[in-house]
Amino acid sequence: MTDWKRWHDPYDDPQSPLSGRLRAVQHQIGFALDRAAPGPVRLLSLCAGEGRDVLPVLAEHPRGADVTGRLVELDPGLCAAARSAAPPAIEAVQGDAGTTALCAGAAPADVLLLCGIFGNIPDADVARTVAATPSLLATGGTVIWTRHTWAPDLTPLVRAWFFEAGVEAISFVTAGRWAVGAGVLRTASMPLEAHARLFAFNR
Ligand SMILES: C[S@@+](CC[C@H](N)C(=O)[O-])C[C@H]1O[C@@H](n2cnc3c(N)ncnc32)[C@H](O)[C@@H]1O
Repeated sequence: MTDWKRWHDPYDDPQSPLSGRLRAVQHQIGFALDRAAPGPVRLLSLCAGEGRDVLPVLAEHPRGADVTGRLVELDPGLCAAARSAAPPAIEAVQGDAGTTALCAGAAPADVLLLCGIFGNIPDADVARTVAATPSLLATGGTVIWTRHTWAPDLTPLVRAWFFEAGVEAISFVTAGRWAVGAGVLRTASMPLEAHARLFAFNR
């Protein structure tokens, strides 16, 4: 079993590859907020960990106060850490993000984070989750995702699946052995299927 609390430790070293990935994700969150239409912005982060990607950006970005949303995290300790760092408009919900159940009420989001997921689930679950993006994301909204690039590198397929789902690629950067992608949903958002299984972690 992965110790997900310890997984976050490299974030404390600015030179670590994971910190490089974190900065790339944070840049994309900032750009997504730059693009967001005036008014309220809805955010949804699945498998959010401590929310280290989202929360510092919201604290500093001029649109941060416009953002409401939900971080979904299975680990109670990590979820509690996220909750204590989050502003009142961002709820941290402890539970399984692998079904759509805890997305109800937070989707479709204007900013959707799928970070730290695709390297930990079967390829078929990655495909299923990407295909479900139009039900999690509002038209014009931004999805930000990560995946390692170790062989066999799945990122070309992930990018193709997002394209098939109606997501236009906005950015794709590699940071060390990590890739960070961002895209905008150009097709109509779809109704959220209740209690649909998207993914399950390998361990
Ligand atoms: C690789 S970490 C990524 C954390 C965060 N998204 C980030 O990038 O900093 C994966 C996270 O997913 C959480 N997790 C694993 N299975 C989950 C599930 N079924 N539902 C919600 N969270 C889950 C773990 O506890 C861990 O915090």
